[in-house]
Amino acid sequence: LLKETETTEPQTGSIRDDITVKEGDSVLLYLAPRKSWLVKAGDADLHTHAGIINLKKIIGMKFGQSVESSLGRNLTLLRPRLPDKIMRIQRLTQIVYPKDMGLISALTGLGNGDIVVECGTGSGALTIFLANAVSPTGRVYTFESRRDFAELAAKNIRKAGLEHIVELNVEDFSRKEKFPFKADVAVVDVGDPWTIVPQMRRALKGSGFLVGICPTFNQAEKLVTTLEGNEFVDIGTYEVILRPIDAREGRTRPSTRMVIAHSAFLTFARKST
Ligand SMILES: C[S@@+](CC[C@H](N)C(=O)[O-])C[C@H]1O[C@@H](n2cnc3c(N)ncnc32)[C@H](O)[C@@H]1O
Repeated sequence: LLKETETTEPQTGSIRDDITVKEGDSVLLYLAPRKSWLVKAGDADLHTHAGIINLKKIIGMKFGQSVESSLGRNLTLLRPRLPDKIMRIQRLTQIVYPKDMGLISALTGLGNGDIVVECGTGSGALTIFLANAVSPTGRVYTFESRRDFAELAAKNIRKAGLEHIVELNVEDFSRKEKFPFKADVAVVDVGDPWTIVPQMRRALKGSGFLVGICPTFNQAEKLVTTLEGNEFVDIGTYEVILRPIDAREGRTRPSTRMVIAHSAFLTFARKST
């Protein structure tokens, strides 16, 4: 745990040069807040309101450097991280936002090796987050009743490079009787989550977490009542409010607009046996 450096000699050895942009690399071209583009180095020119960006020119540059557009605007080359990809997936449904993913991960302690069962794959945004969290040895069993949504989610999960962690079932979860796994965490993001509480009980290990994502108070209330009637304990419902602050010298204050004023209430519960 403690690393003591005994010498002041410069450290030698090979440090992997992974900061140079190579052909085919994903690059986030950052201009300003909410003005960025996810591109592939070497692709055709990108046309934006800030001018044209030559994507061949960025090959060989370093992440963190800036490229100049035809209109003289500087865009910083950022290496995309998971949220950059999740927020840009193709969507056919409402998706779960990073602020809510954060609390799900923090309160369940989600990590490598966990088995997760998810009902309501939708566009696959949360599935991608969950799969990344349980990588490389965990697994996410996700269920989506609509084939068209499942096909899009599969495409998004593949694009994120997490298909080896996910089993995507095109199936109505409420009809599911048996499960070939026992999950550490169950996540439910459907309009009527209380209808699948008995199935989730069967899919979960004793003491496993159930997390319900409900946009309205009514849904959250009905879910909590059902969880209480199905021997779940340690039940709590929360809302994550993310308030942006305009930080400027001498006049820092909350922004006048909130981009996401409300997304969902998150209910957490644990299975007692
Ligand atoms: C709000 S979306 C989920 C969005 C997803 N969490 C995301 O981040 O992309 C809800 C999805 O649940 C699916 N669904 C609803 N009831 C279901 C059930 N009983 N079994 C499987 N999928 C269901 C719907 O078709 C819809 O795609």
